[in-house]
Amino acid sequence: MTEIKKGLAGVVVDYTAISKVNPETNSLLYRGYPVQELAATQSFESVAYLLWNGELPTPEQLAALRARERQCRALLPNVRVAIDLLPLTAHPMDVVRTAVSVIGASDPKVAEDSPEADLDRSIRLFAALPAVVAYDQRRRRGHDLVEPRDDLDYAANFLWMTLGEEAAPLVVDAFTVSLILYAEHSFNASTFTARVITSTLSDLYSAVVGAIGALKGALHGGANEAVMHILDEIGSAENVVPWLDRALAEKQKVMGFGHRVYKHGDSRVPTMRAALVELVEHYDRPDLLALYDALETEFVARKGIYPNLDYPSGPAYHLMGFDTETFTPLFVAARIVGWTAHIREQRASNALIRPLSEYNGPAERHVAGYEADDASATAERPEEAGD
Ligand code: COA
Repeated sequence: MTEIKKGLAGVVVDYTAISKVNPETNSLLYRGYPVQELAATQSFESVAYLLWNGELPTPEQLAALRARERQCRALLPNVRVAIDLLPLTAHPMDVVRTAVSVIGASDPKVAEDSPEADLDRSIRLFAALPAVVAYDQRRRRGHDLVEPRDDLDYAANFLWMTLGEEAAPLVVDAFTVSLILYAEHSFNASTFTARVITSTLSDLYSAVVGAIGALKGALHGGANEAVMHILDEIGSAENVVPWLDRALAEKQKVMGFGHRVYKHGDSRVPTMRAALVELVEHYDRPDLLALYDALETEFVARKGIYPNLDYPSGPAYHLMGFDTETFTPLFVAARIVGWTAHIREQRASNALIRPLSEYNGPAERHVAGYEADDASATAERPEEAGD
């Protein structure tokens, strides 16, 4: 009997030099550096450079990346037209997915196949996504597009384009921390999706579009949005116990808790919770932190399942001024770095990703009235041919 590894749990499918998730030591390394150290010391642009190139940038390399990023920040006119064609009821993840398709279809050099061309595409997508996410939130609120500002770094400009005002340095710092923590996490579902698509020799944009589709699901990136809906529903700390009684009685999954790899806590949570605490003080919202802590304490006590990164990032994004539906697109804007690093790594050492399955459908049978000629009736057709 073939052993089925449902959900590929525990299956190691390839090497990667981009990041290492170690659930035993509760650590996450980007190219060897603990992510907490990077979050405490680096800009998001530096971390992007590290993930793409393997080393932290020199000042000159960082300046060159920043200059290229600034060149590609503005919302392209055809991307704006495409977004405007979508109804306001469309989920922002569908808007981002569509925008990446339009950007890819408009790349005049899409057929150029080289690591350098893919790196430049990665930088251009990294630079273009904030305008897409920001514009979509603004149009939903009935507000106009805000043009990018060349004097602001990536994170500060992202907040500027979304909110139309300069964010306080503390808010920019908290946002930067979240982007760094979300940037990469080895062979998660969306990254694996991107690698599967790349393995067929499809293009970088198609791989990113597929990854966005995978990230949208509530068991993956959609959880940060779901966390905020739960916190809104509970309302305040004193409602946690009755809410949880009901949720667990109904066998509901509580979003923002649990992880496929980390079973003793997510290594990114303490850093993001510290950023959330700063935001709570800045915006004077101790009630939100009390609710956050009460749900965590009660859920961990009852289930022994710990929060993942989406748990603190949801309320943090809420305080920063993002709409709840915009949270998962923020995850896209950060994870574009990890996805594109993996796409380039997959391309550099490619093998078509194509697992097998164990058939458990009906035994061979025949359509009534069909009379096969002798040759086709007896011809052995390989099970997997013609994929
Ligand atoms: N709320 C309630 N129960 C949970 C839970 C949660 N958030 N996460 C796991 N469990 C329970 C499951 O119901 C299951 O219980 P059972 O054995 O009695 O059926 C058990 O813990 C194992 O969970 P399972 O979903 O099989 O583990 P997994 O490794 O496949 O799942 C997740 C990992 C992330 C999919 C899962 O923890 C989850 O759905 N979490 C909520 C969504 C989320 O926050 N996603 C973001 C991940 S970064």
